[in-house]
Order: sequence, then structure tokens, then C-alpha cells
Amino acid sequence: MKVGVLTGGGDCPGLNAVIRAAVRKGVQEYGYDFTGFRDGWRGPLEGDTVPLDIPAVRGILPRGGTVLGSSRTNPLQQEGGIRRIKDNLAELGVEALITIGGEDTLGVAACLAQEYGVPCVGVPKTIDNDLSATDYTFGFDTAVGIATEAIDRLHTTAESHMRVLVVEVMGRHAGWIALHSGLAGGANAILIPEQPFDVEQVCGWVTSRFRASYAPIVVVAEGAVPRDGDMVLKDESLDSYGHVRLSGVGEWLAKQIEKRTGKEARTTVLGHVQRGGTPSAFDRWLATRFGLHAIDCVRDGDFGKMVALRGTDIVRVPIADATARLKTVDPALYDEVGVFFG
Ligand code: F6P
Repeated sequence: MKVGVLTGGGDCPGLNAVIRAAVRKGVQEYGYDFTGFRDGWRGPLEGDTVPLDIPAVRGILPRGGTVLGSSRTNPLQQEGGIRRIKDNLAELGVEALITIGGEDTLGVAACLAQEYGVPCVGVPKTIDNDLSATDYTFGFDTAVGIATEAIDRLHTTAESHMRVLVVEVMGRHAGWIALHSGLAGGANAILIPEQPFDVEQVCGWVTSRFRASYAPIVVVAEGAVPRDGDMVLKDESLDSYGHVRLSGVGEWLAKQIEKRTGKEARTTVLGHVQRGGTPSAFDRWLATRFGLHAIDCVRDGDFGKMVALRGTDIVRVPIADATARLKTVDPALYDEVGVFFG
């Protein structure tokens, strides 16, 4: 049996750990051969492959990024894309495809498996942790760790100058990174896309923090928006996923805070540093287990399924379950954390 592997969408710490685990178990336990496809769905679409065997995965466990490369190519949007993929898989003798990705990559895998009989197994990845059907995605813990360390550092410089520090973290549609890093880092306000914020209320929290002789830290997810909708965004365009890309909420908010409270404010946008570098131990653990279970799905001929974490167990769910809706922050959880604001 020859198994293809691809990684699609934005990169994420832990991708290499999945690849390594699937290849190690597939070769050693089941005697499979592997083919790596370059740059997500572009690989099978164009028949662009890299050798994938035990020597190729040696030493990649702690490495960030993906040795296979990644892209946002969507074969469903290309004329004859599905036929080309099927032809290339047949020509290469690939009988199963492990697709590691987020909403878009897995959406393609679900469609190819369900409607066109392409034997796909899904592995969920995103630093945003917003995929349904799995308790956690790998990459999230690493991103939260990086953001928390940044917040810790920003506390000391904020205190030295008695300034407001606004920290913008990733999360276009869900505020998981903001919520977890903000709580872990002792932020005085956490603003998430799920709950439009009231600028006056944020300024009230900032002022009360200064009254207690502390310098406030405000963590804002990149997709958070003010309740009154008066935010003028620096840049609004479509990204290569076709999603609306908004940027600048951190800077906008810092200006509003300065104007309304008279306190000096600075913004730090963490950006892609949250996605780069070596995965945390938890992400290596989760990604490795996903890889081991993904190759077991292949062995069982259980296609159209995605591996997922439920509690401490790895389970199999239909790939479509992960892409049907986003997993967003529950208002009750947000309220629980709100006790620390101000
Ligand atoms: O989906 C993961 C993510 O990191 C988002 O949090 C972020 O908005 C986006 O990717 C950034 O994508 P790009 O690498 O295309 O700038």
C-alpha cells in the first residue's frame, strides 16, 4: 500500500510530528510506502511529490513548519481539479491520502471523500483551536505559550513606564488564543471576536487598574470588533482563502484608550511569531498521537474520517463534522474569565 501525505493551509507547530508518527508506524508496523505531496492540495493536483520514508522524517519531531510545504490551493475551485487529483493518485499508485489541515484543507478532503470516493483521512490542525469535533488542535498550546511569554514581558515594560500595553494576538473568528494567553498572563482585559467590546468599558477597566497603581495589559484578538462598530480599519481585503482580512484593531484600540483616558498606550502585534518555531511538548504529544491514529484509519480502510481528541482519547469522526461550524468561545466561559478585568 502506498500512502500520500499533505499539509495544507497556514503552517502550525506540530505538523512535522504528525508526518513522522504516521510514516514511522506505517513503515515499521504495516510495511507501507509513502509519498509526500508538496504544498497542500497543489501536490496531488500537479503530481508534485517528495520522497517520504524513515530517513526523511529523522530529526523532524521538534521542528516547526512543515517539511512538505503548504499552500491554500483549492482543487474544488479549479477546472478539472478533481479529475486531475484522481488521475495523479492513480498514476502514482497512491491508495490513501492523509490530509493534515484546517477548515479549508479538511473541507476539500471531506468533499473528495464523500462525493468522489477519494480515500482521505483527516488530521485537524490550527493554532486557533477553532475546529469543531476535537477538544484541542495541536499548535494551539505552542501559540498560547508564546503569547503568554510575550504578555509576561510586556507587564514589566508597561509597569516601568506606567503605560497601557495592548497586545494583539491571532484569532480571526475565535478568541481561544486571546482567552487562554490573557488568563495565563494576567491581562486586565481580554477582547474576543465572539463578544463585541464596549470601548468605554475597556477604558473604565484601564482607569481602575491605574488607580490601583498598576499598568494595564489589554489582550485583543485580531478579529475582535467594538460594539458600536465605529472602528476604522487600516486594511480590509480578501486573503487567499477568500476570507475578509481585517487588521489594525490593536493599534486602533490603543489610540482610543489614549484619547479617552489620557494615558499613554502602546501596541504589540504578535503576528506570525505565534505560529513559528518548535512545538511545545503537549503539541508534540498530540500531533504524534494524531499521526499514529491516522495511519490506523488507513489500515482499517476508514476513509472520510478525521482523528480528534476527546478528553484524553483519540477518536474518529466524519471529517465534515470538523468543518460544519467553527468552535467558538462559550459566553459563559468568557464571563467566568471576566472577573479579572479591570
Ligand atoms: O488560521 C491560522 C491563522 O494563524 C489565523 O489566526 C490568522 O489570522 C491567519 O492564520 C494568518 O494567515 P496568513 O499566514 O495567511 O497571514
